[in-house]
Amino acid sequence: MTIISSTREVPVTSAIPQHVAIIMDGNGRWASKRLLPRTAGHAKGVQSVRRAVETCGRLGVRHLTLFAFSSENWRRPAEEVTLLMRLFVQALEREVARLEDQGVRMHVVGDLSAFEPRLQELILQAQAQTAHNDKLHLTIAANYGGRWDILQATRKMLIAEPELAANPLSIDESQLEKYLSMSWAPEPDLFIRTGGEQRISNFLIWQMAYSELYFTDCYWPDFGEAELLQAFEWYRVRERRFGRTSAQLHAKSAS
Ligand code: IPE
Ligand code: IPE
Ligand code: MG
Repeated sequence: MTIISSTREVPVTSAIPQHVAIIMDGNGRWASKRLLPRTAGHAKGVQSVRRAVETCGRLGVRHLTLFAFSSENWRRPAEEVTLLMRLFVQALEREVARLEDQGVRMHVVGDLSAFEPRLQELILQAQAQTAHNDKLHLTIAANYGGRWDILQATRKMLIAEPELAANPLSIDESQLEKYLSMSWAPEPDLFIRTGGEQRISNFLIWQMAYSELYFTDCYWPDFGEAELLQAFEWYRVRERRFGRTSAQLHAKSAS
């Protein structure tokens, strides 16, 4: 008898990760180390975003997902939150043309209703303006939380398919996945967290069930192409087993 607990198929993997998800952490400490206000670190971090987009585009990564503001980050001092929102607005005003040129399609995921109307409008514009691009999908997670995502997906699913409530045993993983924020993307192959902490901080908790987890002490503003290539190299030599044994994988690659 075959017992399969997951309703998902084993994903196809390659040497270059198809989907990279990054927690861009360490901006505040980067700035404090230089006796600068934390906000200077956030401003500097925008350059690292630009570099990461360029490098991923060049190497053929299809999806780059960046955690820009978590649902928990509202707990920060009001001035820092305001500055982060301002930087987001600025980045949308200044960077979208460059994304256009690079064939990047931009998405923003998270509970956007909490943002001021101008920011919401710019997000919609950026998404619409780049919607025809397909080279690299850049997703910014803003006011995003993994638990929020699972909850909103559950609600959406039951609203769209109310008959499921009467037959909960018919609900499988792929059914719920259709309603998750990033349903268009494969699950992340490689997760990177800069800044030295080794935690997920409520990022893509459903989607990262089988991602390779890479942690580096490098602060986000210092994270450039060399650091990204180092992470890719680390990823390249992982053996992704998805529950199978090493011997099974070798037998498959030999056949
Ligand atoms: C990450 O850097 C950026 C955001 C959370 C917006 P931090 O601001 O968390 O930097 P550290 O962790 O305090 O150094
Ligand atoms: C996670 O970083 C969120 C973002 C990078 C946007 P934090 O620095 O807020 O994470 P914790 O709270 O220290 O885990
Ligand atoms: Mg932090």
